[in-house]
Amino acid sequence: MNKQCAAIILAAGEGTRMKSETPKVMHPLCGRPMVSYVLDLAKALKVATMLVVVGHKRERLQEVLSGYKAKAVHQDKLLGTADAIKRCESALKNFSGNLLVLYGDQPLLCKETLASLIQKHEDSNAAATVLTAYVDNPFGYGRIIRDNFGRVKAIVEEKDASEEERALTEINTGIICFKKQLLFKAIAGIKPNNAKKEYYLTDAIRIMFEAGLAIESFILKGDARQAQGINTRIDLAQAQNIMRQRILEKYMLDGVGIIDPQTTFIDYGVTIGQESVIYPFTVIEKDVIIGKLCQIGPFCHLRPGTVIEDTATIGNFTEVTRSKIGKGSFMKHFSYLGDTSTGKNVNIGCGTVVANFDGRHKQQTIIGDGAFIGSDTVLRSPVKIGKYAITGAGAVVTKDVKDGTVVVGVPAKELPYKKR
Ligand code: UD1
Ligand code: CA
Repeated sequence: MNKQCAAIILAAGEGTRMKSETPKVMHPLCGRPMVSYVLDLAKALKVATMLVVVGHKRERLQEVLSGYKAKAVHQDKLLGTADAIKRCESALKNFSGNLLVLYGDQPLLCKETLASLIQKHEDSNAAATVLTAYVDNPFGYGRIIRDNFGRVKAIVEEKDASEEERALTEINTGIICFKKQLLFKAIAGIKPNNAKKEYYLTDAIRIMFEAGLAIESFILKGDARQAQGINTRIDLAQAQNIMRQRILEKYMLDGVGIIDPQTTFIDYGVTIGQESVIYPFTVIEKDVIIGKLCQIGPFCHLRPGTVIEDTATIGNFTEVTRSKIGKGSFMKHFSYLGDTSTGKNVNIGCGTVVANFDGRHKQQTIIGDGAFIGSDTVLRSPVKIGKYAITGAGAVVTKDVKDGTVVVGVPAKELPYKKR
């Protein structure tokens, strides 16, 4: 654990620009709330204490926070980022190390970046170390103002910047590591005399500099997009793309074939075994589990609660939800399975549909090992298809089918046994 460092995650904002009933930080990014990624970062850094400043619809954040050793701090009025930090003062009264400020709307940051920032802050013994970045379009960000010696002396917000300052392309990513005691001293001197009439945390930099304290900066190298803040749904879509490519690259390095990363959508938290291949235009939602040597897609939609066992093939225009598909089974074309448990080596014929919803309830369907479901079969749940049973093409199965029997027709009836 890093006993010297605590983290505060600012997440009280409404996110007005999202135009949504959902608090901004709860908007999903690859299947989970964006704030979860930031909580993961703080956890990975092994900070001594993790505080999350909540405000707008804070009850909605509770479900996420309960999975972490994080303490929620309530900010009742959104008076600005400095006010948000001030709310944490009493929770930190026994702590005297460094304080890392993170934002709930910056989920793309890498752990290595933050670890380097903290390291630089510790090594330089500065009062504050700001994570900055050079960007092509600095619009909306605070600009870094440096003195003649190149030292950071202030951060000026877009709305308060002069034309000259607006032309600067070095921005404040928002991530700053502070010496805790010096920060709270500086915050006491912050006033809301700016365009937004808010208490700006960024003013702490100017106050510290004017008091003769050392301010350091850590300039983000490489792709500055990891520091991108999400304010609009356009930002969210861009961030989603970046996160999605990261997820896909991880699978590929683990031995999963992704034929076309541009058209493959896999949520965070999906498990895929080695040498499975995902064909284009496939959507795999959170918590899905896929075994080894499976073939999935093209045009396949796997929804939460789906388990595909080793060597199974799920082909084009297929949807599976809350279902298991057993080892070696095939479902190659145009089929839907919901609330269904399928055994081993089952063949689900083209156009099979499980009618799992009667308008009120969802019901279970069980398909035994080795069963052969004929093309265009409808399985009206709840129903059980026995092992090695066969349904004829176009059958509408409304009653359980015994092991090894053949049913045909609408509604499906058992064929008398004859040697086949
Ligand atoms: C902030 C920085 C800016 C930086 C940018 C990076 C300030 C004054 N400005 O601007 O320099 O370039 O981030 O993305 O800090 N929040 C609260 N309580 C409040 C206000 C905000 O918890 O009273 C939270 C928000 O939920 C959000 C974060 O703080 O997660 C940042 O607030 P936001 O209003 O988005 O700041 P920016 O204008 O983006
Ligand atoms: Ca922001």
